Amino acid sequence: MRLAGKTAVITGGAGNIGLTTAQRFLAEGARVLLIDRGEQRIAAALGALGGANAHALDADVTDAGDVARYVAEAQRLFGAVDIFFNNAGIAGAVAPLVDHPDAAFDSVMAVNVRGVFLGLKHMLPVLRDGASVICTSSVAGLRGSAGMAGYVASKHAVVGLMRVAAIEAAPRKIRVNTIHPGPVEGDMMRELEAGMAPTDPKAAQAAIAQRMRLGRYVERREIADLVTFLASDESRMITGTTMVIDAGMAG
Ligand SMILES: NC(=O)c1ccc[n+]([C@@H]2O[C@H](COP(=O)([O-])OP(=O)(O)OC[C@H]3O[C@@H](n4cnc5c(N)ncnc54)[C@H](O)[C@@H]3O)[C@@H](O)[C@H]2O)c1
Repeated sequence: MRLAGKTAVITGGAGNIGLTTAQRFLAEGARVLLIDRGEQRIAAALGALGGANAHALDADVTDAGDVARYVAEAQRLFGAVDIFFNNAGIAGAVAPLVDHPDAAFDSVMAVNVRGVFLGLKHMLPVLRDGASVICTSSVAGLRGSAGMAGYVASKHAVVGLMRVAAIEAAPRKIRVNTIHPGPVEGDMMRELEAGMAPTDPKAAQAAIAQRMRLGRYVERREIADLVTFLASDESRMITGTTMVIDAGMAG
């Protein structure tokens, strides 16, 4: 098992990518603490995982008090943390810059940037030396995309935070990297397709898939493969880098 005896905290852990990755981490021998919002969502996620090695906490990643609380819970459960998957995120509005709603911009920045910042700030002190941090950016963190000002800005900012953390944590041999998924099968893409083509979301899906050179959306388990590699010792010399997993969309 590639993560035997390791401890992991996953934000957005009840979501598509977070939950699938949690399942993989458990199968590889890790203990996991999921962070997400909403009692029911948390209960459903824990139910899906099962077993004594899975834990979950209802916390809002944008709230400094909640972040301190989830870090304290990780410390109580595990002592020290080996893997931090800083992954919670929202899509925000789909609208041209001139019409982009201020409130949607603010909320996407709060979750995707402040949430990632607070996670790094509070979690770094309780990470074990040699730990691995993986922050979820997007292909939208490396290039522009019409209609997605808030999301694109937020995902570029995640790269900046990762680069600072990778430098500051290196003396403790803690590695920090970003992953950059292209469209992943699941609810977030359904929401974006509906925002892009409200009358015909299937047409938006087909148009996006056509831009992916390998011909289809990425599957969650394929994101979990990459995150598990970054979480494991197999990637021990990889830090400060941007790992793209987009079926060739951005290349
Ligand atoms: N799905 C895609 O196509 C895609 C592509 C590139 C990047 N990403 C990124 O991957 C990450 C995971 O997305 P996903 O596809 O699993 O979506 P998802 O909506 O299934 O999961 C996101 C999770 O984050 C949680 N969350 C949102 N705001 C929160 C908050 N304030 N506090 C705590 N939890 C909160 C949600 O409840 C949800 O469970 C996100 O950062 C997203 O931007 C997704």
